Amino acid sequence: MTEVTKKRGDKMELKESILIKLLLLLPFFSVLCASPDFNFFYFVQQWPGSYCDTQKSCCYPTTGKPAADFGIHGLWPNYNDGTYPSNCDPNNPFNPSGISDLTSSLQSNWPTLACPSSDGITFWTHEWDKHGTCSESVLKQHDYFEAALNLRQKANLLQALTNAGIQPDGQSYSLSDIKEAIKNGIGYAPFIECNVDSSGNSQLYQVYLCVNTSGSDFMECPVFPRSKCGSDIEFPSF
Ligand SMILES: *[C@@H]1O[C@H](CO)[C@@H](O)[C@H](O)[C@H]1NC(C)=O
Repeated sequence: MTEVTKKRGDKMELKESILIKLLLLLPFFSVLCASPDFNFFYFVQQWPGSYCDTQKSCCYPTTGKPAADFGIHGLWPNYNDGTYPSNCDPNNPFNPSGISDLTSSLQSNWPTLACPSSDGITFWTHEWDKHGTCSESVLKQHDYFEAALNLRQKANLLQALTNAGIQPDGQSYSLSDIKEAIKNGIGYAPFIECNVDSSGNSQLYQVYLCVNTSGSDFMECPVFPRSKCGSDIEFPSF
């Protein structure tokens, strides 16, 4: 071997070993800039009047009767094919002390109506464990709840509806008018979920808006859930 070819050989070995090291590190880089393992969020708000006037009824939170306004149900990671991931990380259970600065805002904007009465911790625990853990690559627990609260501030459904003359007065409204009022007020088409009151009337229960994977901005829904309201639905008082 001449001096020159030996040097060339050394250089190639050096290049190879760098390449091998990079290849070994690749999995770590791909974790660092992982694209989220879901396609979008549903941000779901519920009308308390429609939760409470059913056969099953409801229980007010221990902190008192919630405002007569839409409350957050959840922020749910979803796939474009309509399916969704759930209970993604049992090793990262809900930790109330991590969001103690948000508690009072959660009590007013994300109130529980389930029985028996509670302060909301059970509701938020369920939402985090089932849905929140599936977007933790994007939003850690505190960011997740903060994102939902911010979205709630951006999407004032009651205002959008009342601006269009649609009020929680127990009257019946056309489903298309309701959708149009929300689209006009928020900027994006909602999905409306109905339930039935104790007399069997179809009513406005939940409103779904879609949010991009940052959890910060509304977008048009890639897919809507499957379920149907009548063409006219009640908007009960609360
Ligand atoms: C979400 O939407 C906002 C506003 O359009 C944008 O700045 C952000 O980059 C989007 N996030 C993703 C992951 O697309």
